[in-house]
Amino acid sequence: MTLSQDIEQLKQQVRAARVIPVLVLDDVSRARPLAEALVAGGLNVLEVTLRTPNALAVMAEMARVEGAIVGSGTVRHATHMRQSEDAGCQFMVSPGAPAYLLEDAQSVSIPLLPGVGSPTEAMAAARAGYSFLKFFPAEALGGVKVLKAFMSPLSDLEFCPTGGISPENMGAYLSLSNVVCVGGSWVAPADLVQKGDFGAIEKLARAARQGG
Ligand code: 3PG
Repeated sequence: MTLSQDIEQLKQQVRAARVIPVLVLDDVSRARPLAEALVAGGLNVLEVTLRTPNALAVMAEMARVEGAIVGSGTVRHATHMRQSEDAGCQFMVSPGAPAYLLEDAQSVSIPLLPGVGSPTEAMAAARAGYSFLKFFPAEALGGVKVLKAFMSPLSDLEFCPTGGISPENMGAYLSLSNVVCVGGSWVAPADLVQKGDFGAIEKLARAARQGG
């Protein structure tokens, strides 16, 4: 099956950025300065999780920042998908890949990066047309070793590992030929966001952009 959304464009964008910050933010007033700091540090593809009451407003604010490519994370049903589109998101990420979600994603214009944790899930997603997948939760599932083991039997699939990625292990993931980018929350720690220390966040972003 072929998807109508432009997943190749998203893949190019995240390959260039290498790291997708995974953001959990409720305070809308912090959205713009946070996105600006991350973009200034070289990380322009941002995943805003739908885990806070104001997540959609946060996305909408971040989507207005020049150079930012904003996606929604923790997408779990069709309503999330429509809300993500309306908020100006350019892509969506889900923690899992149930058949209903893969099907629902066909009715929105922006691409979905579905989460998988096993060969069976990856094969089901591939059959539904998805060849670029989030591997989640990466470290807990065996990390680099598992992705290496996927390479030969699932040679047509590429991954964005997320969950437990850090400056220490990101290089090992990014050196794998089936890894396009990694995702992680470490570039925007809650305490720095709360303090409004966006200079420190820009530094973390720059370090991540340069490899850890
Ligand atoms: C998440 O969905 O929370 C992401 O996988 C981020 O995980 P991390 O906090 O381990 O980077």
